[in-house]
Amino acid sequence: MTDLHTHILPFTDDGATDFDDALDMAEMAAENGTEIIAATPHFNIPGIQSRSVSEIKDTFEQMKNKIEKNKIDISFVLGMEIFASPTVGEKLDCGELITLNGTRYPLIEFGFSEKKDFIFSVMDDLISRSYTPILAHPERYDCFISDLQSLYELYQMGVVIQINKGSILGRFGRRVQRTADAILCHRLAAVAASDAHSPITRTPDLSEFVRVLDMNYGDGCSPLLLEENPKRILRNEDVFWESPIPFDYQR
Ligand SMILES: [Fe+2]
Repeated sequence: MTDLHTHILPFTDDGATDFDDALDMAEMAAENGTEIIAATPHFNIPGIQSRSVSEIKDTFEQMKNKIEKNKIDISFVLGMEIFASPTVGEKLDCGELITLNGTRYPLIEFGFSEKKDFIFSVMDDLISRSYTPILAHPERYDCFISDLQSLYELYQMGVVIQINKGSILGRFGRRVQRTADAILCHRLAAVAASDAHSPITRTPDLSEFVRVLDMNYGDGCSPLLLEENPKRILRNEDVFWESPIPFDYQR
């Protein structure tokens, strides 16, 4: 499997606290069937001084060496979870922000109470700059919890929708779980990921997630969302789009 969204890189955000913590996460992921793991530290959060891209890349190289030295059988790639602002597109263009593995796919998050008009304007700007944005965990945003048809419209624009392990497993409450369930039932998600923050809570172990995905949404669900599409993204190829079922009602 390929896990495209984790906070495994230490000293960069609220994820792994040090290299030992990060190595525990890498080991846990590998032991449970993850072959490729992307480090996607939080970045561009207002009021928080992010480290520079070169510092992030330096820590990434150190971590990669430690994974090899400890003989952990997992490939390690770099991206970031970019907190959206009106200038995200410009910053990506000039290298102040980076995409997943240098592809056209940036991973983008918003505040949970963000207005949908702003989400649409950021996504529109990124697409006009030839990026294919991945929207991180929309099931956690108030505007989509109350209006899933908007998410269907983002899908139609070409936005890649990524849902979280914890959402489906009920770690963020029933409303988020129900929304994630509806996203999967309507075939809107192209990618799933752990959004792991630690080897103890919010872990990178995908085994229970895979079991629940395949049991509730069909045997092809986890192979598409955790294997085929993430690999296609890292190779800068198009994802497989399913035929989604529109929401013709407001919840
Ligand atoms: Fe995250």
